[in-house]
Amino acid sequence: MRLLILSAFLSITAGLHEGSFIPPYQEGEPLAMSVVSLDPADFRGEDVYRIEFDLLIKSGDIEPGMIHRSLADFQKFDDMLHSRFITFENVSDVVFPENPDIATLNDYLQTAIAHQEVFESTELQDFLGINWSGFDLKFMESLPEFMKIVIPQLYRAPEFAPEPPIFSCEEDSITAPETPFEVYTYLQAFRARGNLEEYLTFFNTFVSTYPAFAGLEDDSDVQPAGVSVNIPSHFNQTYVHFLPGGYLNGHTVRISYLGRSKFNFLHEDLLTEWLIKLHGDKKPKRILDIGTGPGFSAFVLAKLFPDAEVIAVDLAAPYIRMARQWQSLRNMSNIEFYHANAEDLSWLESESFDFINYAYVLHEMPAENALRIISEMYRLTAPGGTMNGFEVPYPDNIVERLALVEFNTWGHVWDAPGEKGPEPYMMEYEFGTMITQALDAVGYKDIEIVEYSYFESVFIATKN
Ligand SMILES: C[S@@+](CC[C@H](N)C(=O)[O-])C[C@H]1O[C@@H](n2cnc3c(N)ncnc32)[C@H](O)[C@@H]1O
Ligand SMILES: *[C@@H]1O[C@H](CO)[C@@H](O)[C@H](O)[C@H]1NC(C)=O
Ligand SMILES: *[C@@H]1O[C@H](CO)[C@@H](O)[C@H](O)[C@H]1NC(C)=O
Ligand SMILES: *[C@@H]1O[C@H](CO)[C@@H](O)[C@H](O)[C@H]1NC(C)=O
Ligand SMILES: *[C@@H]1O[C@H](CO)[C@@H](O)[C@H](O)[C@H]1NC(C)=O
Repeated sequence: MRLLILSAFLSITAGLHEGSFIPPYQEGEPLAMSVVSLDPADFRGEDVYRIEFDLLIKSGDIEPGMIHRSLADFQKFDDMLHSRFITFENVSDVVFPENPDIATLNDYLQTAIAHQEVFESTELQDFLGINWSGFDLKFMESLPEFMKIVIPQLYRAPEFAPEPPIFSCEEDSITAPETPFEVYTYLQAFRARGNLEEYLTFFNTFVSTYPAFAGLEDDSDVQPAGVSVNIPSHFNQTYVHFLPGGYLNGHTVRISYLGRSKFNFLHEDLLTEWLIKLHGDKKPKRILDIGTGPGFSAFVLAKLFPDAEVIAVDLAAPYIRMARQWQSLRNMSNIEFYHANAEDLSWLESESFDFINYAYVLHEMPAENALRIISEMYRLTAPGGTMNGFEVPYPDNIVERLALVEFNTWGHVWDAPGEKGPEPYMMEYEFGTMITQALDAVGYKDIEIVEYSYFESVFIATKN
């Protein structure tokens, strides 16, 4: 059975570098299982027992599977069995081993699954890490989808995390598909309001296993020649999306990159559709993408306007390193990615861009910083040029704005010590930056809002 498992996993991990492991998603009915070894500690630092199992899958084939569980996981499983299975509770043969080891835990597992009710339970499937992918979750796609994320009764999360992926190099963290473990991790963030500290420990521990996208100490490897970057204090103080250390921590790059399965305007197809719909008539020669992150919108713009020169900047050097690697993996050449602060792009010539874009940037900072970026955008826009922002809505209705603030800050203030919500600066954005007024104040004309969803609008303006 060992050999079978090895070959199955090797075929799945083909294309990855040695040491990387992307656990496959598996669905089916377990047939048999055994605890086979005690493996080295996992990302939590806990020793983990390896359970191997056989799975009857839809096609009728039998597939081998594997999961790692710590002793604490086994104990939680035992507690669940005894508290949830009424008939089971009265079966005295299932007793947690006094001296747990591979053999006694295996005996324990065999005794437990000898009970049909346990064998067929969702709890056992969760324990084996099967039958839950979360791939049907659409996160921020629409309000009903978002409700599934925040209201646990509307969408079940498994009792145990699926098997985590392992990345041995940066390239694999760019090319490997999202795993159920990562969907689970993201989902739990939105449900962490009551146990934030515990969640953050789990999340931070896992995130630090991702590749770091490190470069030179002073980040000059990704800066425009002779230009250094001043990091605003908020950027290394109050972090968005619970990212430990924020965007400056390159271990968070893959987490942000996986945002593409969760936020509408990170989908390249949707960005393409809307950029064509709104700007397909234009022929920009020089394009700026501000706060480009992994570069989704920069790549789309570069493809839509292959004759244009695209410059994409971000305040986080690791994200620029990732975007450069990704550009080379994609064999694209008409984008230049730079580490830079969009509040001060004095190294770029005034009125030299006929199209300036950003996606999900201005709602993630204090208003004073956002206003400086808006001024820079205006300075850089050529006469007759256009700015386009994919951004959180700025509703006329003050109650709607307050709701956006409450849902995203969880009532916390960004610059006070203590816990924060997923989008700590939403109050600044909705009541300080006030995007349409700010665009008007710097001189933009024909300001237009395209309402897209409860979490996204598109803001468009031109310079005369
Ligand atoms: C939510 S992410 C969006 C990233 C990217 N636009 C996307 O759509 O995937 C916000 C990005 O803005 C960047 N950012 C924040 N302040 C910035 C500034 N002053 N200059 C440049 N980039 C900034 C952050 O580093 C982060 O990558
Ligand atoms: C697990 O997946 C298998 C195969 O799709 C299915 O037959 C079974 O009903 C699933 N079990 C649960 C509890 O969802
Ligand atoms: C299980 O045992 C408890 C306590 O001993 C008892 O109250 C309960 O009725 C029993 N349940 C079944 C289904 O036998
Ligand atoms: C961010 O803050 C940490 C300490 O909190 C510090 O070690 C690190 O150098 C800071 N990074 C930058 C770029 O300021
Ligand atoms: C990029 O080019 C290489 C070498 O020609 C090729 O193997 C690879 O498939 C290309 N990748 C893409 C995404 O086009």
